[in-house]
Amino acid sequence: MSILVTGGAGYIGSHTVVELQNSGYDVVVVDNLSNSNKISLERVSAITGKPVTFYEADILDRDALDAMFEKEQITACIHFAGLKAVGESVAKPWEYYQNNIAGTLVLVDVMRKHNCKNLIFSSSATVYGDPAMIPITEECPKGTCTNPYGWTKSMLEQILSDIQKADPEWNVILLRYFNPIGAHKSGTIGENPNGIPNNLMPYITQVAVGKRPELGVFGNDYDTPDGTGVRDYIHVVDLADGHVKALKKLEENPGLKVYNLGTGTGCSVLDMVKNFEAATGVKVPYVIKERRPGDIATCYADASKAKAELGWEAKYGIREMCEDAWRWQSQNPNGY
Ligand code: NAD
Ligand code: UD1
Repeated sequence: MSILVTGGAGYIGSHTVVELQNSGYDVVVVDNLSNSNKISLERVSAITGKPVTFYEADILDRDALDAMFEKEQITACIHFAGLKAVGESVAKPWEYYQNNIAGTLVLVDVMRKHNCKNLIFSSSATVYGDPAMIPITEECPKGTCTNPYGWTKSMLEQILSDIQKADPEWNVILLRYFNPIGAHKSGTIGENPNGIPNNLMPYITQVAVGKRPELGVFGNDYDTPDGTGVRDYIHVVDLADGHVKALKKLEENPGLKVYNLGTGTGCSVLDMVKNFEAATGVKVPYVIKERRPGDIATCYADASKAKAELGWEAKYGIREMCEDAWRWQSQNPNGY
């Protein structure tokens, strides 16, 4: 009996494989390595002391998935595989809809053929658009996404909900992540962006390690305490643990469930710079720039539903997120 982790060589996937193995699950990873390196899985094995069964395959490749399901005894799937770069999705919408949506449709079709109808899906707080309420509960209406990446998440939530409704044998848990950062304590696995990082924490760590001269802060005229954008940063190990708790929930045949995975606390860009400097002793020079198109002022979760129903809550604070992100970056200045 194994858990299939699609996209398991990636950032959140590799951390989740660690937590799954540490909780006693056997894991099978499917990843096409389009945005990852299989060294991550060797590092996972070194952390857990257990081998990871790995298939280098694309989720669009029906025959490869079929062959994998024939060979392995898969009871549930945690589905991370997808493209996630917001700017790239604006330039290449077809590629994003094809990979994320068509890929998930193939995966789900092969799953049902093999009578495996338990799925945890990586969604995002991006589905709330400019949120109608703060903190954001799961009851908050979904909003207008500003880019094709966001729409793939929003549309896949709808598609998976419709599939579950039509066939109640399916158990589907949609997990809406807030802003995952940080890395495993060992400093051996972490976020490994290609090229110039789009997201705040990898940009900060690359400035700190000397790869970039300064951080650009995208706007200081938002309606927030210090004018910079406020987000709910969550340690990736806490996020990974949320998947283990969601997997336990799947065993209760819950039907369709939606949970926010966040800490419930907002942190501004300048707060993050200060916290990073305090946690690491490394200075992060910054300049204020124009607002980034598509950004919102404030986004943080009401995470009480996950606590009540999954028995999950985030354990790590900003300081540990900064320390752990820095350990990974400083020990691996060029990634894997
Ligand atoms: P990542 O790019 O590190 O991991 C995704 C993995 O999926 C990569 O290893 C990539 O090679 C693989 N992949 C992509 N397309 C594939 C395909 N067609 N077939 C097989 N493998 C494929 O990204 P991540 O940060 O670990 O994100 C994991 C999931 O969580 C994604 O679905 C992402 O959209 C979602 N998510 C991420 C964040 C975030 O801030 N990192 C926030 C919300 C949601
Ligand atoms: C972004 C995506 C979101 C995606 C998430 C995780 C956009 C509009 N949103 O969210 O869809 O789910 O990443 O991949 O891209 N910032 C700076 N300077 C930087 C980088 C970021 O000031 O160099 C600021 C941003 O303006 C924001 C905050 O830092 O206020 C966090 O940004 P980021 O890490 O990119 O995450 P989100 O914008 O929340």
